[in-house]
This record gives sequence, C-alpha cells and structure tokens, in this order.
Amino acid sequence: MSEATVTVTDNRTGKNVALSIKDSVYGEAVVDIAGLPKELGLFSYDPGFVATASCTSAITFLDGPKGELMYRGYPIEQLAGKCSYIEICHLLLNGELPNTEQLRKFKHTITYHTMLNESLRNFFNGFNYDAHPMAMMCGVVGSLAAFYHDKLDIHDAEHRMITAHRLIAKMPTIAAACYKHNVGQPIIYPRNDLSYCGNLVYTMFATPCEDYEVDPVAEEALDILFILHADHEQNASTSTVRLAGSTGANPYACIAAGVACLWGPAHGGANEAVLKQLAQIGSVANIDRYVAKAKDRNDPFRLMGFGHRVYRNFDPRARLVKETCHKVLAKYGNDPLMELAMRLEDIALKDEFFIERKLYPNVDFYSGIIYKALGIPVNMFTVMFAVARTVGWISHWMEMMTEPNQKIGRPRQSYSGPQKRDVPPLVERK
Ligand code: SDX
Repeated sequence: MSEATVTVTDNRTGKNVALSIKDSVYGEAVVDIAGLPKELGLFSYDPGFVATASCTSAITFLDGPKGELMYRGYPIEQLAGKCSYIEICHLLLNGELPNTEQLRKFKHTITYHTMLNESLRNFFNGFNYDAHPMAMMCGVVGSLAAFYHDKLDIHDAEHRMITAHRLIAKMPTIAAACYKHNVGQPIIYPRNDLSYCGNLVYTMFATPCEDYEVDPVAEEALDILFILHADHEQNASTSTVRLAGSTGANPYACIAAGVACLWGPAHGGANEAVLKQLAQIGSVANIDRYVAKAKDRNDPFRLMGFGHRVYRNFDPRARLVKETCHKVLAKYGNDPLMELAMRLEDIALKDEFFIERKLYPNVDFYSGIIYKALGIPVNMFTVMFAVARTVGWISHWMEMMTEPNQKIGRPRQSYSGPQKRDVPPLVERK
C-alpha cells in the first residue's frame, strides 16, 4: 500500500504538498507537518495545542471518547486494583511491572533516598510560616540541583536513573516538610520500615513527642490516589517538563518547572479550587445559582473539577476516586461537602450545557474530599498531586532524553504587532 498522505493545497498559489500520515499504536494517526514551512512557507496555527501531538511516547495512552487510560498498556482500573504506587513507579520508569525481586530492590532504592540533605532542611526556615506549600515546593525542588552535582550528567543513563530515584523518593519528604513548616512543627525524618505512602502520612502527622501509628485506610487511600495521578500523557505540566528538558536543563530544574505549571487552577490547582468552590456554594439550595453562573458566557466562573481537554465522556480516574471517597468517609465519617459534590455532579450531568460540551467530573472533583477527610489542609492538595505526578514527569523526561532526534522545543507564532517603523526622537514622541 502506498504511503498514507494528506495533500494540502495553497489556493493562493495553487501549490500542493503531500504530508505523510503516521499511524499510532492506539488512537488518532498523526500528520507530519514539518514540510509546511519549507514547501508552502506556512506554519500550523493551534493555540493551546488542541490539535497538536508534540512527541511520540510509549508511556501513557488516553482515549478521550472511550474514557480509557493505560500506563504502558495496562488499563488504569486493573493497575489501581492490583498494584501499589511503588509498582506503578517502576512500571512508568522502566516500562514493565516489577517481579518480586525487582520490587524488593526498587523499594529499597527508593526508601534509602527519602532523607533530605540536612542543609536543604534549613531552606524551610527562610519561608514565612504561612507560605503556600506549592511556593515552597517550587523553590525547594529547584534547589535540589545545588546538592547533587555528583550525578548531573544528563547524557549518562546511570545519572539519569539515580536522579529519577532521588526525585521520586524525596518529593514526599519535601511535601511533608512544607506542611510541617506551615503548622510550626519540626520536620520529621522518614522511616525505612514504612511504605511510600505510609511514610508520607507519618512524616506529615507524627511528632517527636509520641509514637504515631499510620492508619492503613489513609495509607491505602493515598496509594490509590497516587496511582491515579501518576501520569497523564502530554498534559500541561508534563509538556512543560519536556520543553524545559529539551534545552538540556538539569532534571531538578525541569521538575520544578512542572511543579510551577501544575499549580494553576485550570490544571493541578483544580483540586484545591474544588474544595474552595464547594465551601463557597455552601448548600444544595445554592447549586442552581452556581450552575447558572458556570453556564453564563459573560461570567468567567467555571465549575472546578469539571471538564477535560481529552476526556469527552468521563474521566476514568474520577470514578475510581469517587469509590475511594466512599470508603474513606465510611471510616472517617461523612462530609457534607461529599453530599454537595454528588448533588452538583447529578444536576450538572443532566444539564444540556454540560452534556453538549461533554463536561464531566475529572480527577480533581472528588480527590480533595479524600485529602480533607485524611486531615490534609486544602493548600496541600496540589502538593499531593505534584508528589504523585513526579514519576510521570521524570519518566517523560527520561523518554525525551533518549529520543534519537531530540531537539529543542521552539514553537513559532502568528505576529499581530505593528508594521516596521522608525524610532522617533524622544522630543517628538507623543
Ligand atoms: C487536570 O490535561 C490533563 O491531562 C490534565 C489532568 C492531568 O492528569 O494532568 O487531567 C489534570 O488538570 C484536570 C483538569 C482540572 N481543571 C479543572 O477542573 C478546571 C475547570 N475545567 C476547565 O478549566 C476546563 O474544562 C479545562 C481547562 C479542564 C479544559 O479546557 P479546554 O479543553 O480548553 O476546554 P474549553 O475551555 O475550550 O471548554 C469547552 C467549553 C467552553 O465553552 P464554550 O466557549 O464552547 O461555550 O466548555 C466550557 C468552556 O467555557 N467549559 C466549562 C468548564 N470547562 C469548560 N464551563 C463551565 N465549567 C467548566 N468547568
């Protein structure tokens, strides 16, 4: 069969160019537009990259219409039901689920990198006690590059892997340290006898004054949430990490860029925004008023936790988060916000505006209710997302760094500024 192509004709000049179509293993095929500038003197124009594939990747696949999500070919529903988050880290990073021996070794490697350099711990004293934890995380993650000069050669596979291990291991310790600084308590050292998520619960809520027992319900809830947040193909923050990495920046700087990008309420900051919005709505009686605001094109108000660039039916993660929500609330007691969230979902999903625009609850809609039930403050919700997503970010960075024809990312633009003009002398300027 001849090569599949799309022919573009410029009707101003009558010139044609055949652009090759590349099949994907799953999902939409892609058309290679690299020839456009040279052949037709044209750039593609796609604000927000709604119709643009920025790279080839073998890590995660999403099917928007079907609401499917797979990590390295495994459906998320199976992974969430059969694996721990640390197994998912091995899968995303190395391409395969670990066997028993590989899991033992990987767990040991990650566990023995969880401590922070003692000098790094002093950084927290430089922040006001009420600094937003995401502001602290942005700064502290970027500063990790100041401590690990020994293994920062991005062209050395062994350096890349140890950096990945250090980041995955230290993010929970950094997250807990941000929380401890906010509450004025001493930063707690991780323990090597605890699981990944058990250590996060421990370092957040233990104090030097007494023994602290990690609640298995909290540990398991975090583990599931972290699996669901671990990766999501070329979302805004992962694309940021790739773009930063394409310049040759060190991986700690790239992950700090991802943390900064995730903070936005349209992205990872949505889980914090959902809880604030549910509190603002306050009661079921007010739902109609807020749904009307969300539908009003002149009102910038959005229903946080609703909608998604790719999922045009449902976010498979939202279903699993909602199930975990019910389990956690069964243990910790119901939360009126859960009732409110479910009524809001019910009303919105029956409303033509949301149906027509395929706006369904996304991963952020219910996750905050779980974090709140575990005693995690709202300003820490996006920090939790950043901890979980670090393995996805660093796996994409690793994949990009081993891409044979990797080049610096540098989009163009459509210029809308003034025509060329001469500089007037100061005295003549109006
Ligand atoms: C995450 O990309 C990822 O994979 C991200 C993520 C990941 O795991 O990395 O899944 C995590 O970021 C989830 C999304 C969290 N954000 C929110 O919950 C914030 C609220 N949602 C919206 O801001 C919005 O839905 C986005 C940002 C998620 C998606 O925006 P798009 O794809 O650019 O869609 P759009 O803004 O073009 O919306 C299409 C229409 C518009 O209406 P019209 O102009 O066509 O009339 O739907 C409307 C929008 O106004 N719309 C909403 C809405 N989301 C979209 N209207 C009300 N409430 C909303 N939440």
